Amino acid sequence: MSNFEFSSLENRDNTMATKWDKREEIFGSQDILPMWVADSDWQTAPAVKKRLQEKVEEGIFGYSFADQSIYQAVQDWLQRRFDLAVKKDWLIFDTGVVPAINFTLKAITEPDEAVIVQPPVYRPFYGAVKNNNCQLLKNELIKTNNYYQMDLNHLEKQIKESNQQGNRVRAMIFCSPHNPVGRVWQKEELLKLLRLLKKEDIYLLSDEIHLDLILPGYQHTPVLKLLLARDEFKEYRKKVISLMAASKTFNIAGLHTSYTIIESRELRAAYQKAKEGFATGNSPFGLLALKSAYNEGEEWLEAQLKYLEANYKFLQQYIKENIPQIKVTEEEGTYLIWLDCSQLGFEKDEQLIEFMNKNAKVGLNPGRWFGDAGSMHMRLNIACPRQRLEEGLKRIKTAVASLENG
Ligand SMILES: Cc1ncc(COP(=O)(O)O)c(C=O)c1O
Repeated sequence: MSNFEFSSLENRDNTMATKWDKREEIFGSQDILPMWVADSDWQTAPAVKKRLQEKVEEGIFGYSFADQSIYQAVQDWLQRRFDLAVKKDWLIFDTGVVPAINFTLKAITEPDEAVIVQPPVYRPFYGAVKNNNCQLLKNELIKTNNYYQMDLNHLEKQIKESNQQGNRVRAMIFCSPHNPVGRVWQKEELLKLLRLLKKEDIYLLSDEIHLDLILPGYQHTPVLKLLLARDEFKEYRKKVISLMAASKTFNIAGLHTSYTIIESRELRAAYQKAKEGFATGNSPFGLLALKSAYNEGEEWLEAQLKYLEANYKFLQQYIKENIPQIKVTEEEGTYLIWLDCSQLGFEKDEQLIEFMNKNAKVGLNPGRWFGDAGSMHMRLNIACPRQRLEEGLKRIKTAVASLENG
């Protein structure tokens, strides 16, 4: 038993938490049990809270920057947990992974160039492509027996076609681990992708925000680690941007802090230029939370991972026994479960969404939010006390049963 608390049903109403206090606005009712946006229903690690309390006492909240100790904390974390050696110069602190993706595309693309995404995928990727007046190149994942894989043969063809049509393929926004399908990409899959991108001279933006949330039996490999270990990628490394944060891992997304890793000096300069006028430093709370999470939060993270694993097993069992019409996508990482609801008998996504909101009274992310490839799916967040997870699943079970009886 760990000393950390993940099962407390504390009231999260009126805390300005988007997940809870926007229920009425987003789902149309306060009765909804929110199981959507990617943050957790428990407090952050005690060490993080303590360091933030000390900062509050200190009372100095002006413009702030990452001092040496923050760089060191990130370097040590990546070395310790992923055997990844990152130089201090390569690190840039940002206010979030989404803004960082936007800055990167601003730095490297011209209008009408194409940017690859792999649907179904985190929706703001599409927005970043649009914001930069680029063309979306959708390389859908392939699903076989509820398991998703990349379709790199198709991607190669898509790249050729797009280049021939005059929309030069410039970059790819990659999600690793993948939200929403829960894949933790294996080394061999990553290497195949990297070799293709290198051959086609395409920049890689590797969003690894979920890097620490990995189920037992799987291992997250940062793309940078593969690149640094192989001579064949010596030149290509200059075209790779890694985006990471402690925000999902330690439930501190509201503190708006992430870090971007760029090895190439030229690309870093272009990135900083793209940021000019859009960013004015970092939150001292975000930086301190990141540092204490990485320096003092490892034991808490291990306990959290155990809790999440047990939640996942509970959900699998519950759905198998009680709602077999819903298929659970095999989960390897993240705490976001991708549910295939196509056998519930609805013809349109709108009906499925209304059913979950109005009949089951659970607040899930509609699969379509992740692109058309997410049709007839829903995403459910299991980072909550088991009792709450059970309550959500019961609501779905009861609603599905009445659907069949009615
Ligand atoms: C894949 C992915 N990238 C980025 C984000 C958000 O990043 P940030 O809040 O740092 O902008 C999320 C949040 O759920 C995510 O799942």
